[in-house]
Amino acid sequence: MERKAASLSGPVSGPVLGIESSCDETAAAVLAPDGTILAERVLSQIAEHAAFGGVVPEIAARAHLSAVSALVADALHEAGLRFGDLSAIAATAGPGLIGGLLVGSGFAKGAAIAAGKPYLAINHLEAHALTARLPGLSEKQPQFPYLLLLLSGGHSQCVAVERVGQYRQLGTTLDDAVGEAFDKTAKLLGLPYPGGPALEAIAKTGNPAAYPLPRPLLHRPGCDFSFSGLKTAVAQLVAAQGTGALAHAVAADIAASFQAAVTDILADRLANAFALREDASCVVVAGGVASNAAIRARLTEVCEAAGKTLIAPPLRLCTDNAVMVAWAAIERLGGLAPADDFNTPCRPRWPLESL
Ligand code: KG4
Ligand code: ZN
Repeated sequence: MERKAASLSGPVSGPVLGIESSCDETAAAVLAPDGTILAERVLSQIAEHAAFGGVVPEIAARAHLSAVSALVADALHEAGLRFGDLSAIAATAGPGLIGGLLVGSGFAKGAAIAAGKPYLAINHLEAHALTARLPGLSEKQPQFPYLLLLLSGGHSQCVAVERVGQYRQLGTTLDDAVGEAFDKTAKLLGLPYPGGPALEAIAKTGNPAAYPLPRPLLHRPGCDFSFSGLKTAVAQLVAAQGTGALAHAVAADIAASFQAAVTDILADRLANAFALREDASCVVVAGGVASNAAIRARLTEVCEAAGKTLIAPPLRLCTDNAVMVAWAAIERLGGLAPADDFNTPCRPRWPLESL
């Protein structure tokens, strides 16, 4: 039987529930219509995937399934609400790992059907793109158009955010995502998963000029990224050290040299983005890699040189979370976009530009 979603088009008048399950975090959050966070919960699956050195899709889907119901109940309890009090229920519907997406959106659809509420299928990238507009996060809410640098384990993108629902991709990765490059390089250096934070920590004691690593696409036009050549260069460097564990000082020098190369690449790409979009009001960074202090400092410098502000939401809202999902739903409805049909599918690939 086909069920029609409760229709809603227009600003929400009550709280919104958001659910995120596209990768290795199960998350639920409840936001008031003005964006006030009433409750937020995130459950990381890092421990379940660590032994495999990366996210295992089947394990991720099962972990989401066993967590989502209690997590949502917990968030609603903290907010002092029941499903019937909500204005809308939103879930990430892509891009991401299909098993996890089906769990989160299936749960959201079921709850929306049972409670007679509208359902929204949220694009994960759009949610990252709009997070910085959450009221109270920065001194001044980012105004459209602005630039978004999404630097995570699954995505490396430079996007012009023109308005809610309208995004122009200025560049993306031609091979590995930047976080993936950090993770793979960390693995080569014998560091634990997820590699980004471990690599940053060891890089602090290393010499960034110790090894002249390649910087793919540097000084070339455009905003695309490429990291696989850099990773291969590190693999060759490590192999040249002979068998056995790397000496700590060597690993630290390689880590610092790798981080310096990535930082140069990102700074160069951002400078090109400014040339393409002189109308950008500011730059927003998102994704786990945005928490890297060396990268943040350098991107801040590039922004200052261009007379723009760099806005970095707090780390818990930079990485995968459900606050951004609920907020994207509020932004969409506020922009008079309609709620989605219960037949709306999940999409492992769902480019921002297709919205
Ligand atoms: O946004 P995120 O939490 O999840 C998704 O990928 O969606 O990003 C995780 C990625 C991992 O690749 C992790 O190694 C990287 O962000 N990361 C870092 C740092 N913290 C996390 N990379 C470099 N430096 C860090 N401090
Ligand atoms: Zn993400």
